[in-house]
Amino acid sequence: MNRNFALEFVRVTEAAALSSARLMGRGDEKLADQAAVDAMRNALNSVEFDGRVVIGEGERDEAPMLYIGEKVGKGGSVRLDLALDPLEGTTICAKGLNNSISVIAIAEEGNFLHAPDCYMEKIAVGPEAKGAIDLNRSPTENLKEIARAKKCSVSDLTAIILDRPRHEELIKEVRMAGARIWLIGDGDVSAAIATTEPTSGVDVLFGTGGAPEGVIAAAALRCRGGDFIGRLVFKDDAERARATRMGIGDLRKVYGIHDLAKGNVMFCATGVTQGTFLNGIRFFKGGAESHSVVMRSETGTIRYIHTQHHFNR
Ligand code: FBP
Repeated sequence: MNRNFALEFVRVTEAAALSSARLMGRGDEKLADQAAVDAMRNALNSVEFDGRVVIGEGERDEAPMLYIGEKVGKGGSVRLDLALDPLEGTTICAKGLNNSISVIAIAEEGNFLHAPDCYMEKIAVGPEAKGAIDLNRSPTENLKEIARAKKCSVSDLTAIILDRPRHEELIKEVRMAGARIWLIGDGDVSAAIATTEPTSGVDVLFGTGGAPEGVIAAAALRCRGGDFIGRLVFKDDAERARATRMGIGDLRKVYGIHDLAKGNVMFCATGVTQGTFLNGIRFFKGGAESHSVVMRSETGTIRYIHTQHHFNR
C-alpha cells in the first residue's frame, strides 16, 4: 500500500473530528455523529482511490452514508477496503468526556473481516504480552499469563473494562484476581490502543463491545505490535442469521488479530475530545488544532501529527 496515502487519510479523520468536535457537550449523539459522517464522506471522496466501506455506519437500509459496501473515493487503480468509525464514542462527545476519536483503518481488498453489527468478546494487550491471551481461558488465567509475560505480578496490572451490567461477573473476577480496574463509559477502540501505550497505565482490555470496533482495534494493534482476540456474541437468532448471510461459517470462532485485519494495514485516528493517547480538538479564533496518529503495520511506523487549521484561508 502506498505510504503516501497516510497523509491523505489523516485529512479524512481530521475533517470528521473537526466537525464533530464543534458539537461536543451538546448532549446530541446523533447530531455529532452525523457531522462526523458527512465530513468524513466528503473528505474520502476527494482522495484518488477506489475505496469500499467494509466496516461502516451499518447496513445500507439503516445507514444512508458510509454504509457497508458503499464505494468511496475519486476512483483510480488503487483498490482499498476501509473499516471506519467517523465518531467512535458518540456519547463521549455528546457529554464532553474523554477519548472520543475519529478513526479509519485501511487494507488491501479482502483483508478485513466483514464483521456483522453484533457484539464481540475481546481481549487486547500491548506488545510485551503478545501471545499471552486466550479467550478459552478465564480472566484470572489470562491475567496470570499477562503478568508472567510482563514479568510482574497480577496486582501490578490494570484492566480496562466497559462499565456495563453484562460485565458484572468479569469485574468481580478481575477484582478477586487482584488486578486494578479502570471502568470506562464508552470507547473500547481507544481503550484497546491504550494497552499498547506504556504511559497509559493500562495493560489489558477485557469485555464485550461492538464487533465492528473490534476489527478497527485489531488493525490499530497490528500496527503497534500488540495482540487482540475476539469472538462474536449474538443477541438472538436474527443476529445469527445475519452473520451467516454475511459469510460467517463458524459462529463460535475465536478470531486472532490476523483473522480480523490481515496483510498490510494502515490506521489513522484524530482525537475529538481529550484522550489518553490523543489530544482533543482545540478551537482558537479563526481555526483549530488537531492531534492525530497514523501508523502502518508494514514498518511499524507511528507518526503523531499536530495540525493547525486556518478556516479563513
Ligand atoms: P458508538 O461510537 O457507536 O457510540 O460506540 C461506543 C462504544 O462504547 C464502543 O466503543 C463499544 O464497542 C460499544 O459502544 C459498546 O456497545 P454498548 O454501548 O452497547 O455496550
